[in-house]
Amino acid sequence: MFVFRRPHGRLTARSAALALLALSASSTLAPVEAAHAAATATTVPPAHTIAYDRYSLTIDGKPIYLWSGSFHYWRLPSPDLWADVLQKMKAAGFNAVEIYFHWGYHSPKRGVYDFSGIRDVDRLLDMARDAGIYVIARPGPYINAETDAGGFPGWLVTTAGKPRSTAPDYTAAYREWMTQIDRILARHQLTDGRGTVLLYQVENELYDDSPDSRRYMQDIEDKARADGITVPLTGNHNGNFFTGVGAVDMPGYDSYPADFDCTRPERWNSVYDFASERKGLTRSPLFFPEFQGGAFDVWGGPGYEACRKLTGPDFERVFYESNIASGSTMQNFYMTYGGINWGWLSSPGVYTSYDYGAAITANRQLTDKYDQQKLIGYMTQAVAPLARTDAVATSVPDNPRLRVNARVNPDDGTRFYILRHADVADTSNDATHLRITLAKVGATTIPQQAGTSIRVNGRDSKMLLADYHFGKQDLAYSTSELMTQLRLGDRDVALLYGRHDEEGETALRYAAEPTTHVIDGNVATHWDATTHTLRLNYRHDGLARVAISQGDTSLLLLIGDNEEAKRFWQLQTETGPVLVRGPYLARNASRDGEQLALTGDADKAGDIEVFAGPDTHGFSWNGTPVVADATPSASLQGHVDGPQPVSLPSLTTWHVSEAAPEITPTFDDSGWTATDRTSTPNPYWNHKLPILDSDDYDFHHGNVWYRGHFKATGKETAILLAANTGVHLGNHGIFTAWLNGHFLGNNPSGAQQFPIDPRWLKAGGDNIVSVLVDNTGHLQEEHSGTFREPRGLIAATFAGSPTDIRWKIQGNVGGENLPDPTRGPFNAGGLYGERMGWQLPGFADSRWATTTLPHATDKPGVDWYRTSFRLDIPTGQDVPIALRIHDIAPHHYRAIIFINGWQMGRYISDVGPQTEFELPAGLLNTHGDNTIAIASWSTAQDGGLGEVSLVMQGNYRSTLAVKPVVAPDYQQVMQAQKALAKPAKANGTN
Ligand code: GAL
Repeated sequence: MFVFRRPHGRLTARSAALALLALSASSTLAPVEAAHAAATATTVPPAHTIAYDRYSLTIDGKPIYLWSGSFHYWRLPSPDLWADVLQKMKAAGFNAVEIYFHWGYHSPKRGVYDFSGIRDVDRLLDMARDAGIYVIARPGPYINAETDAGGFPGWLVTTAGKPRSTAPDYTAAYREWMTQIDRILARHQLTDGRGTVLLYQVENELYDDSPDSRRYMQDIEDKARADGITVPLTGNHNGNFFTGVGAVDMPGYDSYPADFDCTRPERWNSVYDFASERKGLTRSPLFFPEFQGGAFDVWGGPGYEACRKLTGPDFERVFYESNIASGSTMQNFYMTYGGINWGWLSSPGVYTSYDYGAAITANRQLTDKYDQQKLIGYMTQAVAPLARTDAVATSVPDNPRLRVNARVNPDDGTRFYILRHADVADTSNDATHLRITLAKVGATTIPQQAGTSIRVNGRDSKMLLADYHFGKQDLAYSTSELMTQLRLGDRDVALLYGRHDEEGETALRYAAEPTTHVIDGNVATHWDATTHTLRLNYRHDGLARVAISQGDTSLLLLIGDNEEAKRFWQLQTETGPVLVRGPYLARNASRDGEQLALTGDADKAGDIEVFAGPDTHGFSWNGTPVVADATPSASLQGHVDGPQPVSLPSLTTWHVSEAAPEITPTFDDSGWTATDRTSTPNPYWNHKLPILDSDDYDFHHGNVWYRGHFKATGKETAILLAANTGVHLGNHGIFTAWLNGHFLGNNPSGAQQFPIDPRWLKAGGDNIVSVLVDNTGHLQEEHSGTFREPRGLIAATFAGSPTDIRWKIQGNVGGENLPDPTRGPFNAGGLYGERMGWQLPGFADSRWATTTLPHATDKPGVDWYRTSFRLDIPTGQDVPIALRIHDIAPHHYRAIIFINGWQMGRYISDVGPQTEFELPAGLLNTHGDNTIAIASWSTAQDGGLGEVSLVMQGNYRSTLAVKPVVAPDYQQVMQAQKALAKPAKANGTN
């Protein structure tokens, strides 16, 4: 047993006594809820003890099943929506959230760190505490995550030290970050009772056991401890760092059995049995820091609905329950909410949406994957014995196409049978009987009712319980699955479920024959006096209800098909749990005397039913009392209203301006930076000098312009241009080039010789090559430094004449010195319009021409389109809105979409697949004026911009309240730009 608690000496005797008092006062609350109560109280919060053994984590001595989901706050730049996602996770039974902290997102420049506004992780961790959810913190330094440079900051690109090693300059850099982030994480640790940070992951998937990697891991661990991290240190290094130098406290395995090819979503891979890994772990439980929760999609890919199908409810059932069968008590799903690669956050290969086909969509909506996770998640939290089990032998099913695994809790004998097809890809509909072992009676074949069976229809898995005690009940077995059980006053309530129309059998033991009353549904009962067992037989069809009582025990058994079961929500109040049936989402329950105050979301008008103790005489929903009737199930039933209809404005009139003056030979680039560097610490520049790599001139993200000046001999016949725009999972970057205003052509990452028409040259005069280069992001990293690969132009030579060419470069204004730190380092690139602030609210576009969309152009270059619109979404409604671009046929252009100055999308007409770009509330003003600006880069003679519209992706009556994210407008950013330009004239704005 390994124990983590607040270090001795930090508590005085008095504060320790207070802490104990506070702990006992809140003893009805789980530590996760107690942390909230404690943090808001004035006394010293109670310390909690986190420990673990080979079975599970324990908190204050209680074994827990960790059911966790990944969420990246930096992929949702509207803090009030973080609370929404966390509450939705908690509502589905997740007791933990796993969070990557993104170094580059907080640090635009060496020594500069920002934890305010959308980067306020203190606030995020408070929200997790308030939602009652533990946090697995993953601060890197390296995080991978399909984000630019795997989370390394732009300024690290041009340093020399080997990444993820003990190299001194790399070490100095990451220690800077750790000092900053650890200081915040340390304030929120469960060990101190001030927050819910439960675990701290060291690095990310370091698959290298070299002495240097071990030393590097050890250095990070020592640094974390020195920074006050007292929770267990975990790893996802798949077999590495279990023992010796650099070993983590709790090692783990990442696993993506469906891999990432969403083009064939029907395809299934086999289940890998982690039982041997479980056996090999003698000190800590089988932990999945990342088990597949979806898949990322790539430019040109099939889109996220295909990924959601690849990793759909059937996948979740089979694979997550198979992890339970292997004995895992710690599962985190990557991702549960994926979010948005807004700005230039993505690494090469992936596009704006990082929806991930996850349980919760990028626009925060619940899917059937969420429902499925809720079914299993509730069970993991309701069935305490699941946190400590050993594998046991069991008879094979009488149908050989099926296989079953059995586990038993060594303390109380609860048994778990996990049943599925032997070949997980098998889609046949099979029936079987199981021979299970029951206390007292021994081997028993179930179901017992003649002519009935247990079914596994296709890619399905069932986890059946036997010899399970809950409340005052003694469940012999059930061929239905248990979703949850709770004690309400003096009765127990259990919710069982199964696939629609499949047979079910449930057996409960009583001292004497109980009274049974079938309130609803078609359930046959049979009392066996010799075994003292009440057997119920039924088909799962809608929701059946049976009241059973004997002596002082009383049980309400709810038996639903999956559709009915998933409509239940279990919430925790100050005085115990309640069950709510009906609405789209139930967020919170609190007690107000004899009344319950419930909050949640409704997608339509409908019933709401509340199961609570006998001391509950009514309830309110979102602040309004509900007229409710008592039901024969001793519940209260009422009605909730749906949302009011909403219609969105159509975007009819646009202002348009040409915006690539850099192409024109007379354009004044005197304020631009000359690319005159001849040395760099970055070993990745292996091209001719001077250095052209945009990172060397502090332009790390977004588009970059180059202007090359040369004195023509007149003999130049062609120019070879080479650029690196980032190649990974495809080559979808691009550069376009002009000579003295004449279009040369385009190319993705690579080199191309562009022929020169002699009439374009001014022999003996100043000639200009203008090149606009995409930057699809920096590569992720193993060890070799690939994130340092240059971006931008890498070579330019003439054919026909050895003419010399000198380049100037211009990227985002200020480079690493951000004029708009609120929107941050990933928001802005180096397009002319961006440098002029055309994306920002407050810019006056009234002198621009007006147009409608779609709009076609045969002129390669960049055009900006702007429009504004007003929204007045009814208060108390959550209406996820997206911007849609529609082209009847693909054109050659790529559009960058800004909403109120925030870059929320990159669309490539001829690559796809994304056409709808989520506009998160908070960035979108749902009660006022909004500005859309779209920069469209026509990369060939058939560019322009397609039809643009607003799309309502959902409509919910909700308690979610979203405050606008305050960000500077046009005037403020322009002023900041001017202030920046003064001391160093280097990065001028024209
Ligand atoms: C894992 C990695 C994550 C993410 C995932 C794929 O290997 O740890 O950061 O990249 O793969 O989405």
